[in-house]
Amino acid sequence: MNKIVADLICAFVFPKKKRRDFKKKLLQKIKITPPPKNTVICRSVEVSKIVVEGIGNHVEIGEKRTGTSGGDMQIYVKGDGNKIVVGDGFCFGGEIRIDILANNASIVIGKNSTMNKSHIFMLEDNSTIEIGSDTIISWDTNIWATDAHAIFDENDNLINEGESVKIGDHVWIGMGTKIGKNTQIPDGCIVGWGSVVTKRFTEPNCIIAGVPAHVVKTKCRWDIRPPSQILKEEQAQAAK
Ligand SMILES: CC(C)(COP(=O)(O)OP(=O)(O)OC[C@H]1O[C@@H](n2cnc3c(N)ncnc32)[C@H](O)[C@@H]1OP(=O)(O)O)[C@@H](O)C(=O)NCCC(=O)NCCS
Repeated sequence: MNKIVADLICAFVFPKKKRRDFKKKLLQKIKITPPPKNTVICRSVEVSKIVVEGIGNHVEIGEKRTGTSGGDMQIYVKGDGNKIVVGDGFCFGGEIRIDILANNASIVIGKNSTMNKSHIFMLEDNSTIEIGSDTIISWDTNIWATDAHAIFDENDNLINEGESVKIGDHVWIGMGTKIGKNTQIPDGCIVGWGSVVTKRFTEPNCIIAGVPAHVVKTKCRWDIRPPSQILKEEQAQAAK
């Protein structure tokens, strides 16, 4: 049955000559319960494993950005009605793991974002993780839309339900950051390395840092080029 899905995916996505190789790889890595019950569309050969168990799940991985190297993504979905969509131009390095063990949870990553050796984890029904376009997630980052274990207050009310994580467009998350449940990082923000993000921030273009993270600078912008390159380019421009 998986062969039929692989045929269909390849027929729609690839020109004829690329189909055979890609189909071979796809069949090795996709393990899903009867195909009509789930859809898996993967246009990136760097994804080494997609395991989907349940019904009504949808996994769609866009094409990796051209000219980028390495990386390995492994996806595990267990539950019903979950969704993972990663936009085209995604660039990844090291080992990326995405695990959903829930129902009706969703992870949507926009276009041209970058992620290096990190882990995204969802364990709560109906929870969402949204990551915008042109965003960089540096090495050893954890994005968990859940605490994994329940906490109750003195009246026995559950107090730590995970609902959403929202990371905007053109956000730069520094190395070793931990982003927990019910958090928001607005467009254009920078998160300092080693930070622990525990709440919803609302002002764009800030530097957020620390444990727990707080705003340390406002009205900033960042550029993917290193500072030394920008200085060189400015000097070259001034010398003209
Ligand atoms: C966030 C960062 C970019 C800020 O750089 P900056 O604009 O030069 O900021 P400053 O060094 O002036 O720091 C501003 C304030 O934030 C604090 N701060 C900066 N980074 C921090 C961090 N990671 N955790 C806690 N506090 C931090 C500083 O101590 C300073 O506090 P103060 O005002 O009380 O003195 C930098 O600290 C950082 O984390 N760099 C690592 C980036 C990274 O992971 N790169 C990997 C490639 S993707």
